[in-house]
Amino acid sequence: EQWKTPYELIGGEEMVAKLVEAFYSRVAKHPDLQPIFPDDLTETARKQKQFLTQYLGGPPLYTEEHGHPMLRARHLPFEITPTRAKAWLSCMREAMDEVGLAGKARDELYQRLVLTAQHMINTPEHDR
Ligand code: HEM
Repeated sequence: EQWKTPYELIGGEEMVAKLVEAFYSRVAKHPDLQPIFPDDLTETARKQKQFLTQYLGGPPLYTEEHGHPMLRARHLPFEITPTRAKAWLSCMREAMDEVGLAGKARDELYQRLVLTAQHMINTPEHDR
């Protein structure tokens, strides 16, 4: 019990897959996010499953295939404004609700994602 990773605690591969699917179906419809994402989110979702798996302490799937995440650098081609960071996090909260991810493990994951999302901001607010 004591040594379980957050990945195991939230339900492993199955929960990560459900969460990521629920998340990108919201991203695809969100007016602040849809313009900067590809129309086909299959590959994006595949990479995000790999990334979140290792972020949660599971196997290092993302790094095995793509190398060091360098997440802020990989986001530089996109204008990540404070509004978009808030939108990303709201899609994630709704996805967590949809898949029934609750409790301490959810709260801890969400708090880390808030910090990571803030770190991705690379563009001040502007009129689109
Ligand atoms: C890729 C937007 C935050 C993890 C992307 C892409 C966009 C994007 C547009 C490229 C999608 C593609 O071309 O396939 C955003 C926005 C964020 C945000 C607006 C708001 C703050 C985050 C956070 C994480 C994250 C917090 C980590 C938990 C990733 C990963 C990829 C990605 C792993 C794939 C990188 C790759 O191409 O290998 N994001 N992102 N993003 N994002 Fe974010």
